[in-house]
Amino acid sequence: MTQDAKAPSNRPGPSVPSGGPGIGNGTAEVVLEAIGLTKHFPVRRGLRQLFSKERTAVHAVDDVHITLRRGRVVALVGESGSGKSTVARLLAQLYPRTAGDIQLHGKTITVKGGSAFRAYAARVQMIFQDPFASLNPVHTIRYHLTRALKIHHNAGKTDEDLENALRELLTRVSLTPPERYLDKFPHELSGGQRQRVAIARALGADPEALLADEPVSMLDVSIRLGVLNLLRDLKERLNLAILYITHDIASARYFADDTLVMYAGRMVEGGDSETVTQTPAHPYTRLLIDSAPDPDRLAADADPLEEDRGNGEPPSLIRPPSGCRFHPRCPMAMPRCETDLPIRLEIGDKPGHWAACWLYDEATVAAQQPGVAA
Ligand SMILES: Nc1ncnc2c1ncn2[C@@H]1O[C@H](COP(=O)(O)OP(=O)(O)OP(=O)(O)O)[C@@H](O)[C@H]1O
Ligand SMILES: [Mg+2]
Repeated sequence: MTQDAKAPSNRPGPSVPSGGPGIGNGTAEVVLEAIGLTKHFPVRRGLRQLFSKERTAVHAVDDVHITLRRGRVVALVGESGSGKSTVARLLAQLYPRTAGDIQLHGKTITVKGGSAFRAYAARVQMIFQDPFASLNPVHTIRYHLTRALKIHHNAGKTDEDLENALRELLTRVSLTPPERYLDKFPHELSGGQRQRVAIARALGADPEALLADEPVSMLDVSIRLGVLNLLRDLKERLNLAILYITHDIASARYFADDTLVMYAGRMVEGGDSETVTQTPAHPYTRLLIDSAPDPDRLAADADPLEEDRGNGEPPSLIRPPSGCRFHPRCPMAMPRCETDLPIRLEIGDKPGHWAACWLYDEATVAAQQPGVAA
């Protein structure tokens, strides 16, 4: 992976022709892939533990698989503490991983800092939740964007090239006319405008993948849609691969092509967003959907899960529950769920829809055939 492979600096228009092979379906070119991604944070040990051999760690992420493709958005959904940000930070190579593989265009990449990190960041950029915290209050928008363009060798050769590149970036995020914003400080902009600047800064690297960690959750509800529409427009025009992290499964349905659901550090369900949100298979996904206000679902039929939903707390990730991590909260839990780690099982409705849940195991389904209620 080198800088040479990148488009020339000051490049107007899309860096890759849009509508490449397979866009709009699951066969578009893979940009970034995580295989068996695992992160355990060691816990600082107290005096008593110093004398025991037991090693304690927060099992933040275990055996996660994610594939980001050109021109597609993948949503990663889960409640607070489920490990979503840790996945994004691992993919951005901000943390070393405990196990697993991260592949950029099929090649394993492990970056520890310095120029290798810069070269990686030129292709994989992160957008954070809080645009105010991610912009330095003592510097202008011009400073932030110029720095990004220069670090990634996209500032051109002359002052005029730089000025054009700055205008181009602000125009791409619909902050127009650019001269109105260039010399402002972050506090002079609204939250939505600041997030647009943060996105423009990420685009200054001319990346192939954007990792957006709750990019709209700190914005007013009224401007969230505008920022999501901007990201969707960028995905289409620049053929970007986007990871969209959110608590809000309803926004995943609106914005993402595919949705992955995470619970307590593990993936529990995945598939195209329409299928996962309309016909959720995993009891945890159903719980998430039922906790999200959605007028379409207000008249949903009574369901045996209904009474139990919303109960319980997320588990400790220092000693995560054995078997399925959701079993202590799951109203459908069977004895097997307490002991056996569920494997990914295909759900019959749509290709690519899967759930890690024993309810869909052939043996369980067969046992329930005679009409015995669980
Ligand atoms: N640097 C760290 N050291 C130790 N534990 C950590 C660290 N970062 C995250 N964790 C723990 O890992 C788990 C997952 O955290 P993470 O921030 O990835 O969750 P999240 O899904 O992004 O949550 P939220 O929706 O609140 O942002 C949590 O239990 C958290 O306390
Ligand atoms: Mg987070």
